[in-house]
Amino acid sequence: MKQSKQIVLITGGSSGIGLALAEKFKENDNTVIITGRNLSKLETVQKDFPKIQIFQSDVTNDADVRMLADDIQEKFGGIDILINNAGIMNLVDAGNGGNDLQKQMQEIEINYNSPIRLLHYFLPQLKKSKSAVLVNVSSGLAYVPFAQAPTYSGTKSAIHFWTKGIRLQLKPHNIKVVELLPPVVDTPLAHGADIAEDDNLKPMPPEKLADIFWKDFIKGKEEITPGISKQLKLMGRLAPKFIFNQLNKKPIPNYN
Ligand SMILES: NC(=O)c1ccc[n+]([C@@H]2O[C@H](COP(=O)([O-])OP(=O)(O)OC[C@H]3O[C@@H](n4cnc5c(N)ncnc54)[C@H](OP(=O)(O)O)[C@@H]3O)[C@@H](O)[C@H]2O)c1
Repeated sequence: MKQSKQIVLITGGSSGIGLALAEKFKENDNTVIITGRNLSKLETVQKDFPKIQIFQSDVTNDADVRMLADDIQEKFGGIDILINNAGIMNLVDAGNGGNDLQKQMQEIEINYNSPIRLLHYFLPQLKKSKSAVLVNVSSGLAYVPFAQAPTYSGTKSAIHFWTKGIRLQLKPHNIKVVELLPPVVDTPLAHGADIAEDDNLKPMPPEKLADIFWKDFIKGKEEITPGISKQLKLMGRLAPKFIFNQLNKKPIPNYN
């Protein structure tokens, strides 16, 4: 896997995992472009890391993504690496009215439909690259659902299956497909979830996640499962009921 001199696009790079990955790629002498909806968050990142390029772009907005692809083509001549990272997590109490329909539809749009959209518009650029990689950020919850976030868990298992399918299809086009399945990571997205007090579920710092990702990424690993995600993968197969109960020990809080 090429480690430097690549043009890397990371959706949702203005905080958390996307930002930690952006720093990692930048440290290793790559050109890094990040996107997000909130311009002031992007500008703060650019102040701290002037070499990181920012684009305000909503992954759910078709025109935004098309314009992003055109702008990047014009400014950088295309990308080598696309990292589908942007995501949100809604805590839902489906039985008690804490199930805002619009928010859940938006969650599916951001987490599942948008990576498909991004690949669609960036495919021509990836096909032209001699070292193309698509990285999809799903979650350890793709293996075992978290009951407090059922729609989220569904989007992540959907991305997991999509990733497996397109890996085979993109191989003849020399586009490598990698999936990062993070454990609980200490980012704004994870704050608020009432996770069981278990040492294994302690949030991992995003910088540590980026270190683990990088080591596996440069080795060419296709499925990267840091921390508890590795156990979720194994236990999800061997003892699915047991691991589901372990992960969902706490009663669903009232999210109304
Ligand atoms: N944190 C965890 O425990 C954890 C665990 C497993 C997987 N993950 C996954 O890791 C990825 C990153 O999450 P994170 O924890 O780093 O969350 P985060 O800190 O909240 O970052 C999410 C990023 O996505 C951007 N974003 C959200 N909606 C967007 C949209 N419609 N268009 C463009 N950008 C958008 C946000 O910026 P704006 O709000 O300004 O748009 C922000 O930059 C997500 O896919 C998440 O599901 C996280």
